Amino acid sequence: PVQVKKICCIGAGYVGGPTCAVIALKCPQIEVTIVDLNQARIDAWNDKDFNLPIYEPGLEDVVRAARGRNLFFSTEVDKAIQDADLIFVSVNTPTKKGGVGAGFAADLNYIELATRQIAKVSNSSKIVVEKSTVPCRTAESMRTILEANSKPGCRFDILSNPEFLAEGTAIDDLFAPDRVLIGSLQTQEGKDACESLRSVYANWVPTERILTVGLWSSELSKLAANAMLAQRISSINALSAICEATGANIDEVAHAVGYDSRMGNKFLKASVGFGGSCFQKDILNLVYLSETLHLPEVAAYWKQVVTMNEHQKRRFSKRVVDTLFNTITGKRIAVLGFAFKADTGDTRESAAITLIRDFVAERAIVNVYDPKVVEEQIWLDLEESIPQPLAATKKQVVIHKSALEACKNAEAVIIATEWKEFLQIDWTEVYKHMNKPAFVFDGRLIVDVPKLTEIGFKVTSIGRGDKA
Ligand code: NAD
Ligand code: UDX
Repeated sequence: PVQVKKICCIGAGYVGGPTCAVIALKCPQIEVTIVDLNQARIDAWNDKDFNLPIYEPGLEDVVRAARGRNLFFSTEVDKAIQDADLIFVSVNTPTKKGGVGAGFAADLNYIELATRQIAKVSNSSKIVVEKSTVPCRTAESMRTILEANSKPGCRFDILSNPEFLAEGTAIDDLFAPDRVLIGSLQTQEGKDACESLRSVYANWVPTERILTVGLWSSELSKLAANAMLAQRISSINALSAICEATGANIDEVAHAVGYDSRMGNKFLKASVGFGGSCFQKDILNLVYLSETLHLPEVAAYWKQVVTMNEHQKRRFSKRVVDTLFNTITGKRIAVLGFAFKADTGDTRESAAITLIRDFVAERAIVNVYDPKVVEEQIWLDLEESIPQPLAATKKQVVIHKSALEACKNAEAVIIATEWKEFLQIDWTEVYKHMNKPAFVFDGRLIVDVPKLTEIGFKVTSIGRGDKA
């Protein structure tokens, strides 16, 4: 097996950046260059004050320790490819917006362009690693492209090495992963390439946590893991609807169910709906794969996980309108949290976007506050999701600098993201500044309901009915 000395990572996003920065930190003997076509993103990674393009707890320390030592960020894609023995492909694979499979299939254009670039500029053999999440058998297409375009004497071995980090905990997840999964062809060359990558991770990951499997199993395992995690949330959210109608309490149900050691207690928090760039995209990808394999029942089964999530978001905004005497026209609603989960500035598919869209459609005035999401991003997301000119939206939506500011003169407060600072909110102070009756809608089950009720709030929580 080749001993890896130089790594190139194509794509300096949420996955490529943190993943390869950690590899550089843990493997000082390996030179790691992360490249991207997006100059602004690379400039931010190289920022002298470490204003990095993504917010992730612990990331800055990793970049401070390794950048300039054996970690480099660059837009010189071709050079980094030529120099490397091993190349991670960590480009985006969004849901296709048009053409065959629109709305379901993964857009593999970025993968294909990166693959063609590798074939075109490589002067020596490479191990090419799929890090992006891709449909089952994408490695085969990559191999065909690479082999058809390679220069004499260059061979390409393809591995699948999906990433399981979650945003907000990316650095902890990378330092101590539950598992690292490497898929390869079961040929001698495939096994050798697998061993080369395995020995990179072995610098800090215990051997028993590095799993080696066939290429197709590896690709499918990533889709399977995300589908099953998302299914758990849709299951608990489906039960939250039953709780609201019966007087059962979803936290108590989750606690009781999660005590079963076969089930486990993690990832059972009912919410306003899952967001993030992965769950919906990867399930739809699995649905499309099932359909193309002529497995309509399998496709319908997984599709329901996404349908339930949409239902949960709609159900929540409807509950707000219903509770506020069936109209929120002209009423001020404070939405606390815009990121899709705490500890990230990422807003992709965030439930907050859907809620704000619904409130704007009801002609409410929406006050938004998020501790990490930058204002431009909020406007970009609202422009994309609300079917009216941004100027009109700006008349209805106001972005605030603190939770208290956002709550002033509001009729209702919506908790959309479980930021820790929302646990510290001085609710007595908030109450003083709100219109009465003052409502709180907890989409993340973080508020102390008896305490807020005592202050005078009317509190509505996911998965807790009025009959409780
Ligand atoms: P991202 O959009 O943040 O980053 C992708 C980057 O690739 C962009 O900066 C883009 O400019 C760059 N890029 C695209 N084509 C390029 C090319 N030809 N050459 C150079 N750069 C190019 O995406 P992400 O969130 O990092 O996700 C990347 C992949 O990882 C996706 O397949 C995703 O499904 C998967 N994934 C994401 C997460 C997550 O938490 N975000 C977790 C696991 C897996
Ligand atoms: C997910 C997977 O967890 C990760 O393994 C994969 O690599 C990428 O996709 P991510 O989307 O970053 O990670 O975050 P995750 O913690 O999974 O949360 C996804 C969404 O589900 C968030 O909106 C979160 O708030 C929501 N969620 C999570 C719940 O509503 N309840 C839970 O119990 C857990």
